[in-house]
Amino acid sequence: MKNIAILASGSGSNAENIAKYFGGSDYARVSFIIANNPEAYVLERAKKLGIESAVVTKQQFMEADSIIAMLQERSIDFVVLAGFLLLVPQKLIEAYPGRIVNIHPALLPKHGGKGMYGDRVHKAVVECGDTESGITIHLIDEHYDQGTTFFQAKCQVLPTDTPDDVAAKVHALEYEHFPHVIEEILHTLD
Ligand code: GRF
Repeated sequence: MKNIAILASGSGSNAENIAKYFGGSDYARVSFIIANNPEAYVLERAKKLGIESAVVTKQQFMEADSIIAMLQERSIDFVVLAGFLLLVPQKLIEAYPGRIVNIHPALLPKHGGKGMYGDRVHKAVVECGDTESGITIHLIDEHYDQGTTFFQAKCQVLPTDTPDDVAAKVHALEYEHFPHVIEEILHTLD
């Protein structure tokens, strides 16, 4: 059984969706959720799902040693960033090479980089008059949103769409694809 840890900063709807997807699997499970904000709703979701969770400070995360220890103590094989806003430190990347995946709510390399997260991304898509948006699932390296892209899916953006409309379409793509793409990546590591 492969153990997945999810790192999230906010609501955690993707975290919940991924945990439920693997709920019936004997191949992998979500066994640990880490939030960097004690108010993050993802912690409530973890409780309801019966998944162990922890809160870390930004400093603790950046120093990485205690996070790496937490992950290793729980035999975590793979790390998923689902709405996680901190830059992953080099030490953590080195501890889990090719084993940390992120989802970005746009078609990278467009609308990525530092400060481009959540609604800001969907606003930028609308302001640029883009006719499509989507999701990018990529392995991470030491730069925001720049690791190897593993998967993209697109949705249409209509001239009348608001950033909220785009967000709804992108979220639908995330729920549809993120869990099975994680499973596919896990299989490449077998
Ligand atoms: C998602 O759109 C994800 O792509 C982005 O942040 C959002 C998190 O949503 N990085 P949730 O916390 O999973 O509901």
